[in-house]
Amino acid sequence: MKISVIGTGYVGLVSGTCFAETGVDVVCVDVDQRKIDMLNNGQIPIYEPGLDDIYKRNVEKGRLKFTTGLADSLQDTEAVFIAVGTPPDEDGSADLKYVLAVAREIGQNMDHYMVVATKSTVPVGTSVKVKEAILEELKKRKVDIPFDVASNPEFLKEGSAVEDFLRPDRIVIGTESEKAQKVMKRLYKPFLLNGHPILFMDITSAEMTKYAANSMLATRISFINDIANLCEIMGADIDAVRKGIGSDPRIGNKFLYPGTGYGGSCFPKDVQALIRTADEHGHSLDILKAVEKVNDRQKSVLFHKIYSHFNGDLKGRRFALWGLAFKPKTDDMREAPSLVVIEKLLQAGATVTAYDPVAMDEARRILGDKITFAKDEYEACIDADGLVLITEWPEFRLPNFKVLERLLKDKLIFDGRNIYDPSELQELSFTYYPIGRKS
Ligand code: NAD
Ligand code: UGA
Repeated sequence: MKISVIGTGYVGLVSGTCFAETGVDVVCVDVDQRKIDMLNNGQIPIYEPGLDDIYKRNVEKGRLKFTTGLADSLQDTEAVFIAVGTPPDEDGSADLKYVLAVAREIGQNMDHYMVVATKSTVPVGTSVKVKEAILEELKKRKVDIPFDVASNPEFLKEGSAVEDFLRPDRIVIGTESEKAQKVMKRLYKPFLLNGHPILFMDITSAEMTKYAANSMLATRISFINDIANLCEIMGADIDAVRKGIGSDPRIGNKFLYPGTGYGGSCFPKDVQALIRTADEHGHSLDILKAVEKVNDRQKSVLFHKIYSHFNGDLKGRRFALWGLAFKPKTDDMREAPSLVVIEKLLQAGATVTAYDPVAMDEARRILGDKITFAKDEYEACIDADGLVLITEWPEFRLPNFKVLERLLKDKLIFDGRNIYDPSELQELSFTYYPIGRKS
C-alpha cells in the first residue's frame, strides 16, 4: 500500500512516520525546502519524543520518503492526507488557503482513483470545498478521474504525538462511499489492536467532532481555572477540589489542572474558529465565548501576583523564568502563556532570564534579545528577584531548594502550574505563590 501526506509539520510528519511503521510506503511532501532538506539529511525539524527512532528505522527501510514534489508523490498512491496548517484569519475563522491550494494541486496532478482525506483541523463544510476544488481542476484538464474525499481529524497531542498516533483512543473518519471506507479501514487497522474503535460517520459530523473535542477540553481548563481563582478568594485549595471532583467517573480526572491558561497552536485557534462558524450561522456559542475570555484573563494571573507582591514596583527587577514552551515535551511556542507573562514583565520595567529544556532556539527566534537566556535552570536564578515557573517540565519538579536559596536574591517562587508542595516551601521559608491555593 502507498500513501502521500501533504504538509510535514507536527501532524504530517508524525502521521507519515507512524503509517510507515506499519509497513506502508509513505511519501511526505512539504513546500518548505529547508524542512525537506533536513529530513532527507537525517534531521527532524521538530522536537517530538520517540519520533527520531521510528523516523530513522523507516527511512532506512526505504518506506519513508520526503520531497517537495506533490505531483510525483501521487504516483500509485491509494490515499492522500492533507495535513497543512489552518491558521486563524484576521477575524478568527480558519484560513483555508493552504488546504485548498493543496486540493487544487491534487486535482491538477491525479491520474487514478484515490481517497483525499483532510487531516488538518478544518471547519464544517471544508471537505465539500476540497471536493469542488479538485473537480474544478479535473474539469480544466478535461479528464474524469474518480476520487473520494474524507474527513479524518487528528487528535494527537504534542509531546506525546507518537504514542497518541500509534495507540489512539479512537479514529474518526467521515466518508461518503464504501470504497473510501475500505481504504481507510485497511490503513488504520494496525493501530487499533488495542480494541479501540474506528468511528465512521458522515463528513459533516467528523469535521464537527474535532472542534467539539478541542472546545470541550478547553472548556474544562477554563472552568477549573475560574474555580481556582475563586478557591483563592474563599481560602479553598484547588488541588483538593480537583481531586474531589475528578474522582467522580462522570467528571474524570484528566484535563483539570489549573495553570497559566491554555496555549498552543490548537485550542486558542480552534475555539475561536468554532465561535466564528457559529456566529456566521446565526448561533452564538456563549459558553465558548466565556471560555476564551477566562483563558485570556488567566494568562495574566501570574503576572498580577508578581505585580502585587512588589506593590507595582517592578522597574529594574529581574526574574528567572522556567519553561517557555506552551507545555512540556515540546519546542512549540505558539500562543505560549510564557510570552504573555514576559511581555507584561518587560512592559512593567523588569527584565527576564529564561531557561527551557528544548524550546530555547525557538524562543530566541521569537524573542530575540528582549530577554536573556540561561544555560540551565540554576544559572537563570543567579541574583534574580524571584523565580517564575510557567511550564511544568519534569526536571523542574524537584529542584535543589538549598541551591535556589543561595542563588536567588529573595526566597520567592511564583508557580504557574502548582508543582511544588506549599508546606515544604513554607518549612524552607520560601514565599510561595501557587494558583488557586493558599500561598
Ligand atoms: P505546522 O505548521 O507544524 O505544519 C504545516 C506544514 O504544512 C508546514 O510545514 C508547511 O510548510 C506545510 N505546507 C503549507 N502549505 C503547503 C503546501 N501547499 N504543500 C505542502 N506543504 C505545505 O502545522 P501542524 O501543527 O502540523 O498542524 C497542521 C494541521 O493539523 C492544523 O490544521 C492543526 O490545527 C491540525 N492539528 C494539529 C495538531 C498539533 O498538535 N499540532 C494536532 C491535531 C490537529
Ligand atoms: C490539543 C488536544 O489535547 C489534542 O487532542 C488535539 O489533537 C490538539 O490540541 C490539536 O487539535 O492540535 P495540544 O495542544 O498538543 O493538544 O496540547 P494539550 O496537552 O491539549 O495542552 C493544551 C494546553 O492546555 C497547554 O497549554 C496545556 O498547558 C493546557 N492544559 C492542559 C492545562 O492548562 N490544564 C490541563 O489540565 C491540560
